[in-house]
Amino acid sequence: MSGKVVSGLEGIVAAETRVSGVDGEAGELIVGGYRVEDLAPRATFEEVAHLLWQGALPDARQHRELRIALAERRALPSLTLELLRTAAVERMSPMDALRMAAGTLSLSAEKELAHLDRSGQYRGAKEEERTPSLDEVDREQALAITAQFPTIVAAYARLYQGETIVPPDPALGHAANFLFMLRGTPPTPAQTRAMETYLNTVIDHGLNASTFTARVIVSTRSDLLSAIVGAIGALKGPLHGGAPGPALEMVFAIGSQEHAEPQLRKRLDQGERLMGFGHRIYKVRDPRADVLAAAASALYRTEGDRALYELALEVEQVALRLLEQYKPGRRLQTNVEFYTALLLHGLEIPTELFTPTFALGRVAGWIAHSFEQRALDRLIRPQSVYTGPLFRDEPSTLRSA
Ligand code: ACO
Repeated sequence: MSGKVVSGLEGIVAAETRVSGVDGEAGELIVGGYRVEDLAPRATFEEVAHLLWQGALPDARQHRELRIALAERRALPSLTLELLRTAAVERMSPMDALRMAAGTLSLSAEKELAHLDRSGQYRGAKEEERTPSLDEVDREQALAITAQFPTIVAAYARLYQGETIVPPDPALGHAANFLFMLRGTPPTPAQTRAMETYLNTVIDHGLNASTFTARVIVSTRSDLLSAIVGAIGALKGPLHGGAPGPALEMVFAIGSQEHAEPQLRKRLDQGERLMGFGHRIYKVRDPRADVLAAAASALYRTEGDRALYELALEVEQVALRLLEQYKPGRRLQTNVEFYTALLLHGLEIPTELFTPTFALGRVAGWIAHSFEQRALDRLIRPQSVYTGPLFRDEPSTLRSA
């Protein structure tokens, strides 16, 4: 087989999707038909998840039902908790803990299937024995996975610190409950809003590596949970979900406004990259950076370390000026990671939880893409070009065997 290899599949269009669309030249991200800047700061996470899964924003009843369905499924199976305790003793990274724990969630999803009613609604009524359809299995797994991801991340963070687990509060929405389980105290309205905005902003982003991974797995007619576990593995890599930590560390290392210019110059003179700047697709400003910048501005008005916020703004301005000077014409702008770092830090989320927290939002996008791929039912199977040796002599080891 011969043919032109497109390294990294760059520029290859591999799917049609109604979930989200990215226009890098226009600096635009459309999520379920809405501009991210119009949607993310106003909606709850449940509303945007419904939009991506069902194709339209929910009415008040549908919103309430999804909120309840997720709240009812937050508790973790005992085996999952046991695994998290062992992982904490072994000092595993939070992303490894999430990947391993997510793999156990089929246990609770299978149990929940017994509570589907005939129309596939989640009413809690006991159904007589029957084999659930693939669609029902997918929908139940989608709810269980989405509901339990925050419980895994928060429980693991507390176990890692040697603290007791905080059980979920069914009265709180998805975003607020995550902050509650993490810290043990209910978040303020400003913190809840910031968390909702963050999750909505990162919920989907075209055919990124983890989303593609999920679609490949579903395309083999495998189950949804397997697709999500694979996607976590892809997100874990530093080229995908791992950049916000270093962006914050850079601001901390600079320390004060007067050090911003000399330190950034030093980094650029040494050929280093400035973390939180530049993007493969966005050549004007990343719209997600704008949404999160506005969310950070609102949050730091009442919460968090105001001096750090002001330092970050100064670092951003100096970095943009120097990047234009050092890399003219490269159009290097602030990316989503810079303001992710600032916003999550303002929510008192530790740096090592930034990537798992990203997964709490992105999981709803993975699920929406998996539903699309399931409906398409077409195996994803590209080709490769063989570059190894041809027609070697038979190995002597085989002849003697
Ligand atoms: N700081 C300094 N110079 C940079 C930066 C940066 N942040 N980003 C790109 N450049 C320079 C490169 O050195 C290169 O210069 P040269 O042509 O003189 O050698 C030029 O700009 C083009 O760089 P590429 O590597 O071709 O750009 P690419 O599109 O592949 O890179 C990337 C995108 C990886 C995000 C890059 O901008 C980068 O490393 N940024 C810093 C890390 C970061 O913030 N990552 C998070 C990205 S957001 C996300 O993935 C969700």
